[in-house]
Amino acid sequence: MKNKRRALLIFLILLVTFQLGYSQSQTNKRAKWFTESRLGMFIHWGIYSGAEGFWKGEKIRHNNDYAEWIMYRNNIEKNEYLELIKHFDWNKIDPEKWVVLAKNSGMKYITFTAKHHDGFALWKSDVSDYNVWNYSYPQRDILGELAQACKKHDMKLGLYYSHWIDWEHEFGWKHNMEIDGISAEKYDIYWQEKLIPQIKELLTNYGEIDLFWFDMWIHHSETVVTKRQLMQVKNLIRELQPNCLINSRLGLSLEEDSDIDFKTLGDNQLGNKKEDFPWQSPATVAHSWGFHADDSKWKSTTTLLKSLINNVSLNGNFMLNIGPRANGDVPYEIEQRLLEMGKWLHTNGESIYGAQAFDLDKNSHDWGRITSKQSGEKTTLYLHIHNWPIDEQIILSGVANKPEKIYLLSDNKKKDIGFEFKDVITKIDLSNYKPDNYISVIAVEYNSFPKVITDIVSINSQGGYALSPDKCSFSNKKIDVEKKSRYGTVPEHLAVSESQTLKWKIFVEEPCTKSVDISYSFQGKNPKGSLKIKIGENIISHNFENSGKTVGEPNSNWVIDSFKSFRLGKIDFPNKGFYEIELEINPHKKEKLDFQWIWIK
Ligand code: GLC
Repeated sequence: MKNKRRALLIFLILLVTFQLGYSQSQTNKRAKWFTESRLGMFIHWGIYSGAEGFWKGEKIRHNNDYAEWIMYRNNIEKNEYLELIKHFDWNKIDPEKWVVLAKNSGMKYITFTAKHHDGFALWKSDVSDYNVWNYSYPQRDILGELAQACKKHDMKLGLYYSHWIDWEHEFGWKHNMEIDGISAEKYDIYWQEKLIPQIKELLTNYGEIDLFWFDMWIHHSETVVTKRQLMQVKNLIRELQPNCLINSRLGLSLEEDSDIDFKTLGDNQLGNKKEDFPWQSPATVAHSWGFHADDSKWKSTTTLLKSLINNVSLNGNFMLNIGPRANGDVPYEIEQRLLEMGKWLHTNGESIYGAQAFDLDKNSHDWGRITSKQSGEKTTLYLHIHNWPIDEQIILSGVANKPEKIYLLSDNKKKDIGFEFKDVITKIDLSNYKPDNYISVIAVEYNSFPKVITDIVSINSQGGYALSPDKCSFSNKKIDVEKKSRYGTVPEHLAVSESQTLKWKIFVEEPCTKSVDISYSFQGKNPKGSLKIKIGENIISHNFENSGKTVGEPNSNWVIDSFKSFRLGKIDFPNKGFYEIELEINPHKKEKLDFQWIWIK
């Protein structure tokens, strides 16, 4: 009996571990559609779209150039600001076109700026006259039309509502408040008389609202908003539309209230680590959210796809913005890229929609990023190849199962791609294939969830192992990597002034001899410091050599410590298998060594 119970317990533990490891475990039921969607559209459109980033001949007064901020930046009075409406072509504006564009771009949800910081409502609001119905000819309820189009095209609809900032309402948060101050009572008038009834309208008159996107990038305690006010908003949404998601920029910390559905990263901030809680990056194709005539730094389609893939490979979403003009047109530069993404997703979407992170580190492979999917026992890894290898071979390191089948996701015949599997290395032969114009995806199928070895250093695209401090599997002291400095002319390194040992693991696929290089900067005068590299039975010793100075940038008074690569010798790897590389650094009298990497090839 006891044994049975124990077996059951072990089974349950295994089950839980299994679930935790391989699904985005902290997604609540409400947010499931969201994490499965992965790609959404943000729409910034409002009165500011009529200014196009300029006011009376002057460009918006802030280098950040967010065109939707023009009212605030250039100190425009409400009545004058409203004159921008003259630029709007009400006979041309067609929100359905935005929805169709989202659809054709492979986007699964839209977040529309129902009310941005300027306080102007893009729907027929009975709460405030300051709304699109009152200022359009013929009268239009833009949000209403958008909501209908979303329903028609099966698109989820989210609403951006600027809660903290409102430059229109007498008691909303704006410039002078930070000089003159505003009483809590007055600010609450804005909250109770404009914000709450408007949110009620939005949740009552436009059918299902799939998410609410608030925009406060600081914690409420740093400004005028109170926790009580934020809880009031949250409770209202939960009460009127219990399925509606709420983002973290509402302004409550997760410790104060864990009932937030997804985290919003900073503007154009991509994910950096795997997280199980749902999250999203809002991003622009160039820089400004609202249309800006001077926007020019257009990201390429490949860059945008890489951003999307990066986020999905870490369990995140990507929401890409369009800033239509006052006639509703989406700038060609944006439309074209979105449609190209849509085309790519049409072929490769399987690796994105409903896909998740895999258990290897984000930077484990220099050829790209991995997403994964599980269905029953079966697991598929999607290798996103950023750079098609010049030697037409991709190596996947760290997965200890033999794949069942490998094919290009774009090949609907799923023709087998040849591969070689050894212990933890899968070598994929791409010599008969051509790269995708943007990013190629290789599907690698397994019959079960493969065993993952996370602590080995992969063979990189140049055929060697780059052992940097951040990749070590052991260190007897804390690894505190010095960041790159002076525009990266001083590379990332580990400053070692007292004896330190670091270890890495690699897998060598056949008996061979490899050379070992080390890169460091040593500025000491006394070359008594030394280091030792131990690989199996082999030991290489080396006395520090002064690496001297170098010039990082011509004619700029830019002298920096030189990081040099030293060839330490050759080492035999007599058998195929795992090896531990141990580096022992022994400085003399605290004369530090700035260690950068070991390179084995
Ligand atoms: C910022 C800006 C805003 C923009 C938003 C998008 O918070 O204030 O203009 O709507 O980011 O993420």
